[in-house]
Amino acid sequence: MQSVKIAPSILSADFARLGEEVSAIDAAGADWIHVDVMDGHFVPNLTIGPMVVKALRPHSKKPFDVHLMVTPADPLVEAFAEAGADILSVHPESGPHLHRTLMRIRALGKKAGVVLNPATPIDCLDHVMDMIDLVLVMSVNPGFGGQSFIESALPKIATIRRRIDQLGLPIELEVDGGVDQGNCRRVIDAGATVLVAGTASFRGGASAYAANIAALKGSAA
Ligand code: DX5
Ligand code: ZN
Repeated sequence: MQSVKIAPSILSADFARLGEEVSAIDAAGADWIHVDVMDGHFVPNLTIGPMVVKALRPHSKKPFDVHLMVTPADPLVEAFAEAGADILSVHPESGPHLHRTLMRIRALGKKAGVVLNPATPIDCLDHVMDMIDLVLVMSVNPGFGGQSFIESALPKIATIRRRIDQLGLPIELEVDGGVDQGNCRRVIDAGATVLVAGTASFRGGASAYAANIAALKGSAA
């Protein structure tokens, strides 16, 4: 069985030293770099645009996993793709035509993901499973790092795991929000293949990053 991937969210990094932080978390064992893009409208916070993604791109060769919390998403997809995103994930609530948005991401040669908020039903995956590379299950309401894990995400992850397996599709199942060394075992057991971890990756400063990531992988092993 393939080991779990860790995708540290740079939302918890030191924004005054973002390039160094990306290099440091890469060297510490991050598998993907998770970039939380917030517009102050779809979610009540404002973070990173394509210019910042472009500036960070030389600091890591790892996949940039860009989580778009913006509405509408379509006008920004191309800019993030050109800036260096490898995976672009969108919330169904962020635009009226999820299918079109996913087609647009794939047409740009990027991997496409669908993000489910805690109250978003699994059914919205029904007609797009053949056009996605990733399902991202939110285990907090989007907008902020450092929130507590919502337990009802676990049966939801398990249901999506079964659906992916039944279809036999190579879709990653990523979980985002409040994931830490104490709950990652249960998240993996439910069927996740990628763990986003902001607080749990970046706590303690750069000298702690490798141990933080090793502990997430270790307690998930
Ligand atoms: C929330 C973001 C998450 C968040 C994760 O809207 O999508 O990626 O920053 O941070 P932690 O791991 O601290 O919950
Ligand atoms: Zn995220």
